[in-house]
Amino acid sequence: MKNFLTLGIETSCDDTGVAILENDNKVLCEYLSSQIKDHSRFGGVIPEFAARKHLENLLPLVDAALREINIRGQDLSLIAVTRGPGLMGSLIVGVQTAIALSQVWGVPLIGVNHIEGHLFAPLVDSQDLEPPFLSLIVSGGHTEIIEVKEFGKYRLLGETRDDAAGEAYDKAARILGLKYPGGPEIDKLAKTGDSHAFNFPIPLKNTHEIEFSFSGLKTALLWQVKKFQEAGENIPVNDLCASFQRAVTEALMAKVNLAVKLTGIKRVSASGGVSANSALREALSNSKNFRAWLPKLSRCTDNAVMVAMAGHNSWERGAFVNDTVIPDPALHAI
Ligand code: KG4
Ligand code: ZN
Repeated sequence: MKNFLTLGIETSCDDTGVAILENDNKVLCEYLSSQIKDHSRFGGVIPEFAARKHLENLLPLVDAALREINIRGQDLSLIAVTRGPGLMGSLIVGVQTAIALSQVWGVPLIGVNHIEGHLFAPLVDSQDLEPPFLSLIVSGGHTEIIEVKEFGKYRLLGETRDDAAGEAYDKAARILGLKYPGGPEIDKLAKTGDSHAFNFPIPLKNTHEIEFSFSGLKTALLWQVKKFQEAGENIPVNDLCASFQRAVTEALMAKVNLAVKLTGIKRVSASGGVSANSALREALSNSKNFRAWLPKLSRCTDNAVMVAMAGHNSWERGAFVNDTVIPDPALHAI
């Protein structure tokens, strides 16, 4: 049987990703061009700038990927591209490039939901994770728990009422004068901080709904920082990072445990940028209530391997494939 080769393209936000996957999950090559350095001087992603960077980076990465494994574009079996949710300008660059390549090479094209892409990230290296399972998606734009009944059949169990967990980390970092993206910075400084130095409220911890809220927590941090500033005292940044991280982790864990209890499903995966957080990884991995599957660190944040895998899986299920994939910045997860 001829091997099935999927080219994955990811450009939903500020990372340009290209990967080639053989059959279900064998990663032949993967490339990621991060714009973090370009955007961190602005304290966040500038959409127009991100789109222009994707335009510069995408085709050279596709070219490098084909060369690395010594194939031509025509040898591909499928092109899978993120079509949303994300930044419109960034999505347009990925989708239009994918449409052009698909037409020039005569290769079928499939649009991938970025959230479904994240959902597949832990599966790249873990063949023993099979539906039904619960998927905690924690990224810069999303915080939700999805019940994966089977691939392609998802139920949203709950989501954030306001900020996403990654957004909360980024805003907290800004309050503390740390650079963008805030999650990795807070994670690093928290390692030498006391996580019990401050008792931040654990948002919605005791409600009986699967729901999240992080905007109040961010405000609690802001007031704490202001108190130190007004008193003319040094800000204990590491202790604040550790205590903030504990609160976010406890809030996420409370609802993962609730979802396990309500559904009886004891298999939990996590993905999205915040699944790289060391405290969250430790809490999930050490849980006695369920077994956890986590992507390797480089595949927690946006990447094209997860997009290729989700696209290939949809293709196998007979999902709609054509050359008129339309970018949708507000695409829903399910
Ligand atoms: O999944 P992702 O790359 O992009 C979106 O689809 O949003 O997630 C990026 C988010 C950022 O908010 C970033 O601060 C957060 O993930 N993040 C982390 C860590 N690494 C990345 N948050 C907490 N701890 C980390 N180690
Ligand atoms: Zn993402």
